[in-house]
Amino acid sequence: MKKKLALAILLSGGGSNAQAIMDACRSGALDAKVRIVGADRLSAGGLDRAAAMGVDHFVVDYKGILQDTEASSVYPPPPDLDLGDVLKKQHLFPEDRASEEGCVSEKVRHFFMRRAAAERMLLDALLPFEPDLIVLAGFMRTLSPYFIDRMQQPGELPKIMNIHPALLPAFPGTDGYGDTFRHGCRVGGCTVHFVDYGEDSGPIVGQAAFPILPGDSLEDVKRRGLEEEWKLYPSCIQLYAEGRLVLENRPQRSGAVRRVVRVLS
Ligand code: GRF
Repeated sequence: MKKKLALAILLSGGGSNAQAIMDACRSGALDAKVRIVGADRLSAGGLDRAAAMGVDHFVVDYKGILQDTEASSVYPPPPDLDLGDVLKKQHLFPEDRASEEGCVSEKVRHFFMRRAAAERMLLDALLPFEPDLIVLAGFMRTLSPYFIDRMQQPGELPKIMNIHPALLPAFPGTDGYGDTFRHGCRVGGCTVHFVDYGEDSGPIVGQAAFPILPGDSLEDVKRRGLEEEWKLYPSCIQLYAEGRLVLENRPQRSGAVRRVVRVLS
C-alpha cells in the first residue's frame, strides 16, 4: 500500500479547515494522515477538534514569547539563528529594510529573535512527527526564513502550504474577505499557495471563486468563502499527495522570473 502523506497542521482559530482536512483523511478522499496539530495560542478552538479526532496537538505561546523583554531572556534565540540572513531575506516592517543586520532598530532585531525562539519550539514539536507537508490553516503568524529554511530546501518542491481568504495576488494580509467586501468586488474567492518569505506571495496551487450578490453582507461573504475553502484545501493537498505539483519559472513583464505551479495531469 502507498504510504500516506504525513501532514502537520498549524492554526490559530476555530479550525474549520483543519476539520475539513481531517475529515477528508478519515473518509479516504485524501491520501494523507494528520499526524500533529499545533497552535500559537491555548484558546484556539482547532485544538479541541484535533483532540476529538484523536490527533496529537500542542501549543507554542507566541504572545508570551514575543512579549518577553527580559534582558536575560526566558526565551533565548536558537543558537543556529543567523539574524543577518533572516533580515536579508524577509521584510515585514518599513524599518527592517536595511540590508545590514547592524542597521535595523533594536525593536526589529528583538522581534525577529523572539520569533525564531518561538519557531524553534514549533520545529521541536513538529519534526518528531516527520511531516511531509506543513499545512497552515488559519495560522495568524508569518513564518520567518529561520523556520522556512529548516523545512524546505531551495529548488525543491516547497513543503509549506497556506490558505488565504482572497483571490491572490489581490488582498494579501490578515483580512482577505473583509478587504474584498469593502472594495466592492463582485467576485470573492480563496487561494491555496506555497509559502515563501513574503506575505501571501508564494506560488499559487489552486483557487476557487464565488459571486458576491447585491445585498450580501460581510458575514455572507465569509460563510460562502469558508464553504469553498473546505473543498479547495483538501483537493490541493491531494494533488501534492499524488505528486502532481511541479514548479516552473515563468518570466514576468517586469523582466523578473516568477516560480509558478504546474499541475500534472
Ligand atoms: C480562513 O478563512 C482562512 O482562509 C484564513 O483563516 C481562516 C481560518 O478559518 N487564513 P478556520 O480556523 O479554518 O475556521
